[in-house]
Amino acid sequence: MSEANIIDGKAFAAGLRERVGKAVTRLKADHGLTPGLAVVLVGENPASEVYVRNKARQTAEAGMQSFEHKLSLETTQAELLALVDKLNKDPAVHGILVQLPLPDQIAEQAVIDALDPAKDVDGFHVINVGRLSTGTTGANAPMVPCTPLGCIMLLKDRLGNLSGLNAVVIGRSNIVGKPMAQLLIKESCTVTIAHSRTRDLPAVARGADILIAAVGRPQMIKADWIKPGAAVIDVGINRVAGEGGKSRIVGDVDTAGAKAVAGAITPVPGGVGPMTIACLLANTVTAACRQAGIEPPDL
Ligand code: GUN
Repeated sequence: MSEANIIDGKAFAAGLRERVGKAVTRLKADHGLTPGLAVVLVGENPASEVYVRNKARQTAEAGMQSFEHKLSLETTQAELLALVDKLNKDPAVHGILVQLPLPDQIAEQAVIDALDPAKDVDGFHVINVGRLSTGTTGANAPMVPCTPLGCIMLLKDRLGNLSGLNAVVIGRSNIVGKPMAQLLIKESCTVTIAHSRTRDLPAVARGADILIAAVGRPQMIKADWIKPGAAVIDVGINRVAGEGGKSRIVGDVDTAGAKAVAGAITPVPGGVGPMTIACLLANTVTAACRQAGIEPPDL
């Protein structure tokens, strides 16, 4: 896509992966440190399998060690917790990602609680959630969830200073909505978190200079929900029926209509999606540096 108001997340993510790769080369040369990322997948969710394969490939391409653990759908919570414990103790593993969702017999929160917060590259552990909300910096700075981190990078790259802007986040999940709101507060935005119970959602959305769509409903957000000139970040990845019996991926925003109104908008695919994995690699480098007592690079 070449229109001026399209935010090319694919290109930005490629640049970030290149910076991560260079940082890894320096860590190996200067400190003998090879960052390692362990990804754990339980069961056979096809979408999760694609993500996990891409994560493993891009981790290796950035020069890092990739450890893949594929467990059967029948895995018990005790078995998964035993693996997490082993990875927590493994000095070659600096980052641990347990792919969500997990099968019903496993309580997700119990698994997240068991992660070493220093290795929690998803930023889902309560220690990281708390440190993000208190604005902790320095050696105790939080690991920040990858998708919102990618969104904020795209926004700062496009808009520069976000201070004083009205940001509306549609969606209140722990993975995207809540940490997204925290990051926008940190940038001095005035933040509204809207969700399925919000009254007159289109009117709330129309107040946004920055609109973040993270609802998981295909093309729900229409052109007339968008303030002219607003920056629109579409976090949705929805599979819908396409032509000829094939499926295709669409976002939460009706992009074709919205791009005539928005000042800047992320496409789907090629917007936020590629940023999530690139930020995961960046978080793994940050985690490895902190565990080794090295100042993390500015990525
Ligand atoms: N499932 C969907 N998104 C994510 C994510 O960012 N991290 C993990 N662990 N699982 C996911």
